Amino acid sequence: MSFTSASAWGKVILFGEHAVVYGRPAIAAPVSHVGVTVTVEAASQDVIIAQDIHQVILVWGASPDEPLSLTVRNTLAALDISTRPGLRLTVCSTIPIAAGLGSGAAVATAIVRALAAYFGRSLNPAEVAAIALETEKLFHGTPSGIDTTVIAFERPVYFRRGRPIETLQVRAPFWLAIGDTGQPALTKESVADVRRAWQHEAAKFDRIFDAVGEIVEQARCAIENGETTRLGPLMDQNQRWLREMDVSSPKLERLIAAARSAGAAGAKLCGGGRGGNMIALIAPEQGEQVRHALLSAGARNVIITRV
Ligand code: PMV
Repeated sequence: MSFTSASAWGKVILFGEHAVVYGRPAIAAPVSHVGVTVTVEAASQDVIIAQDIHQVILVWGASPDEPLSLTVRNTLAALDISTRPGLRLTVCSTIPIAAGLGSGAAVATAIVRALAAYFGRSLNPAEVAAIALETEKLFHGTPSGIDTTVIAFERPVYFRRGRPIETLQVRAPFWLAIGDTGQPALTKESVADVRRAWQHEAAKFDRIFDAVGEIVEQARCAIENGETTRLGPLMDQNQRWLREMDVSSPKLERLIAAARSAGAAGAKLCGGGRGGNMIALIAPEQGEQVRHALLSAGARNVIITRV
C-alpha cells in the first residue's frame, strides 16, 4: 500500500454540446493523446500537489469546496474508508485547463481511480463517473455528465442525461484534427450564458436544441454504419447552431475556416466554446496539411487523432 498511480484520458464532444444540458443527446469520444496521472502515497498529513502542462505547481489545502479535496473526500466516503494514513496525491496533467478537452473531469476521474487502487478496491466505470460528477458540479455548475461518462468509460459514448449509458460501435474509424485556440474559456460561464438566453427566449432555444439533437441522431447512425463522410456536413451544421447559441469566438472561427480551407470535411468547436479547442474531420493523409494550416492560423497546439 505504499505507492499507487492511475490515469485518465481527455475527451472531445463530437456533437451536441450545450443542447445536452437540456436533455438532448450528444456524442463524445476519449482522446488518449492528453491525460492526467495521479500518484497516491502515505504522508504525515494530507496534501495534493497539482502540476499542469505549464509546470505550475499548486499545493491544495483541505478547504471544503476546493475541487480536488472534495474529490478525495467523496471517493473515501464512497469506498467507506474512515481509518487511513495521511495521503499525498500528486496530480500531473497534460490536458490544457478550460479548453474543452475535459481537464476537470479527467483530474477527478484519475483521483477516484488512484484512491480506489491505493486501497485495493475496485469501482466500475459508472461508479467512477458518479463520484467524478460531484466535482464537475463545482467546475461547471450544472454539468450534463457527458464528460465524466466518456472519460470513465474510455469509449465513444452516445449520452442522454438521465438515460442508461450507451457506448458506440464505431464501424469505420475516422480522423480528427483538434486545434487549440490557446484562449482559456470557463465552461461554467458559457453554460450560464446559454441558460440565461434560453430563459429569455425559450421557444427559440428549444428549437435550436431540437435541431442539434436531430444532428446527433444522424451522426450516431453514420458512425454506427461506417458512413464517415456524412460526419463532415453534420459538424458544419452543428457549428451553425453553436454560433446561434453565441458560444463560438473569432479565434475558433479562424481555426475552423483554416481547417476547412485546408481540406477538412467539416469542423466545429468542441466543449463549452468561446475559446478552447475545435475539431475538424480529416482524411488520414490530410493530417500534416491541416496541422500546418491550423498552426499558421494561430493554433497553440494541434492533435491528430483517430476515433
Ligand atoms: O467544456 P467541456 O469540455 O467541459 O464540455 C462542456 C460540455 C457542455 O455541454 C457545454 C456542458 C455539459 O455539462 O455538458
